[in-house]
Amino acid sequence: MSRQLKFNIFRYNPQDPNSVPHTDSFWLDETPSLTLFIALNRLREEQDSSLNFDFACRMAICGSCGMVINGRPGLACRTLTSDLPGEITLMPLPVFKLVGDLAVDTGTWFRATNEKIESWIHTDQEFDPEALEERMENDLANSIFELERCIECGCCVASCGTANMRADFVGAFALNRVARFVMDPRDKRSDADYFEVVGTDQGIFGCMGLLACEDVCPRKIPLQDQLGILRRKMGFIGLKNLFRRKV
Ligand code: SF4
Ligand code: F3S
Ligand code: FES
Repeated sequence: MSRQLKFNIFRYNPQDPNSVPHTDSFWLDETPSLTLFIALNRLREEQDSSLNFDFACRMAICGSCGMVINGRPGLACRTLTSDLPGEITLMPLPVFKLVGDLAVDTGTWFRATNEKIESWIHTDQEFDPEALEERMENDLANSIFELERCIECGCCVASCGTANMRADFVGAFALNRVARFVMDPRDKRSDADYFEVVGTDQGIFGCMGLLACEDVCPRKIPLQDQLGILRRKMGFIGLKNLFRRKV
């Protein structure tokens, strides 16, 4: 016999001065292979057309359906209700600006953070549209691609205690992004240049090693390894700078 699911969903419209944050409860019959994405669409179509949440791709690619599912950040489109208890509580991701109900504005945060960490290849090489593609060793290309798989969903940031307490902390997403450029031989920045970007308390030294980021990442990006490598690299540069100042 199929279950009847109870959904407790956060409701609030920050644009409406009369709106008060609260939780609404809905009930829905569970069907085979029901994802939270499908369940939310059914609730909106059948029970409350004002329910606000984001989605685009439905296949864990666009990163727009992140929300807190029974206390844990995750993607609605890749979460099966069969993996959850009969009572499901949905909240918007913290850290990001609330648009309404479960929808948050991750775009503004990611754009600002990408600018802060200078998230692009730094090179003096002029672009030549006629030039042949530069070759790269397969293993290196695969290692870079491994970190490039981030879909900017915001789950790692929302799960991080430091990011929740400190708006200036760039979070695991950004540290992984910097690690990706450090690996890329086309980026001509030196370790000292990277130190300028993330060798601070807002960057790698603000990370307290809480580990939640990797735990919730829907792309299973090896964040801990990358954060560890970056911490050691930046720690070494920091020590070098310290001794240089003392000489
Ligand atoms: Fe999402 Fe993972 Fe990228 Fe963080 S690192 S934004 S959890 S895909
Ligand atoms: Fe936060 Fe992950 Fe560091 S959860 S404190 S970024 S290890
Ligand atoms: Fe695109 Fe879920 S709808 S990641």
